[in-house]
Amino acid sequence: MKPGDRLMKHFLQFKDLRAEEYAYLFERTRIIKTRFKNYERYQPLADRTLAMIFEKASTRTRVSFEAGMYQMGGSVVHLTTGDSQLGRAEPIEDSARVISRMVDLVMIRTYEQAKIERFAAHSRVPVINGLTNEFHPCQILADIYTYIEHRGSIAGKVVAWVGDGNNMANTWLQAADILGFTVHVSTPEGYAVDPGVAGVARQDCWRVFDHPMDACAGADLVTTDVWTSMGYEAQNEERRKAFVDWCVDEDMMAAARPDALFMHCLPAHRGEEVAAEVIDGPQSVVWDEAENRMHVQKALMEYLLLGRIG
Ligand code: CP
Ligand code: NVA
Repeated sequence: MKPGDRLMKHFLQFKDLRAEEYAYLFERTRIIKTRFKNYERYQPLADRTLAMIFEKASTRTRVSFEAGMYQMGGSVVHLTTGDSQLGRAEPIEDSARVISRMVDLVMIRTYEQAKIERFAAHSRVPVINGLTNEFHPCQILADIYTYIEHRGSIAGKVVAWVGDGNNMANTWLQAADILGFTVHVSTPEGYAVDPGVAGVARQDCWRVFDHPMDACAGADLVTTDVWTSMGYEAQNEERRKAFVDWCVDEDMMAAARPDALFMHCLPAHRGEEVAAEVIDGPQSVVWDEAENRMHVQKALMEYLLLGRIG
C-alpha cells in the first residue's frame, strides 16, 4: 500500500468502518474461528509483518495480535516506549515514516487519540488502535461478535454501561450509532461520557441514567470496566469513593432481561466494578469475549491488508 492509496484503511475509531463492513468482518470472523477450531491451517498473511507498539501494559491485546498474526503466517515486531526511541522523544511522525517503510501493518496502544491519528497520517500502512484514552475499538469488535455468537444480531438491543465514561463507553456509543442498538449509560457524577469525545451522529443511540439499576432494567447486555483506567492512576482513591455504587451485582443482573449477558473487557477487579458472583456466574461470557479478540482481529488484519476475500 502507498500513501494516498484510496484503498488503504485505518482502524482508529469504531466509526472508521461502516455497518456493511462490520457485517463482512463478523462473517469472516466466524469462518476464521471455525478453521482455527478445526486445526485447519490458514496463512493468507505469509511474509507480512505487524509492528505492535505498546505505551501501556497489555495481556490480551498483545497475545491476541501476536498469536493471531503468527497463525495467519505472518510475523510481529514488539516495541514499547521503554525499549525504543519512542521513549526518547523521537517525533511520532518520524517514527511512523520509518516503521511503516518496514512493516505491513501497525497496531498502537497509547495515551491520547491525537497521537495515533498523527502516526496514521504519516504511515504508509494501515494502523489499528489497540486502545487509547478515548477509544478501544478492537475490544468492542470482539464484544459485539461475542454477543452475536450467543444471541444473534445486536440491532435493536439495549446495552447497559455501568461505570466510568471512558474509552470503552465512548466506543460502545459509536458502535450503537453504526449498528443500530441503544446504550443505557450510568456513571457517577463527574465521570460522564463526553459526547464531544464519543462523536456519535445519532443522539438517540444512548440514554443517561442517574442510577445504575435503572440503566440495567430490561437490558440485553450488561457491561462495565475498571473504575480507574490506565493513565489515571493518580485518581485512584477519589474514584474508589465515587464509584462504590457502580458495582455490577446480582441485583443489577436481575433487573436486566432474564437472558441478559454480562461482559467485561478485562482485567477485572472482583468486589469493585463487578461482584464475583456476576463475573464468575452463568450470564458471564467474559472468557469467550477475551478469546474472540484474537478471532475478530485476524479478520480485521486480513481485511485491512487483503481487502474482501472472494
Ligand atoms: N481488554 C484488554 O485490552 O486487555 P489488555 O489490557 O490485557 O490488552
Ligand atoms: N478502560 C481500561 C481498559 C483496559 C483494557 C483502560 O483503559 O485501562
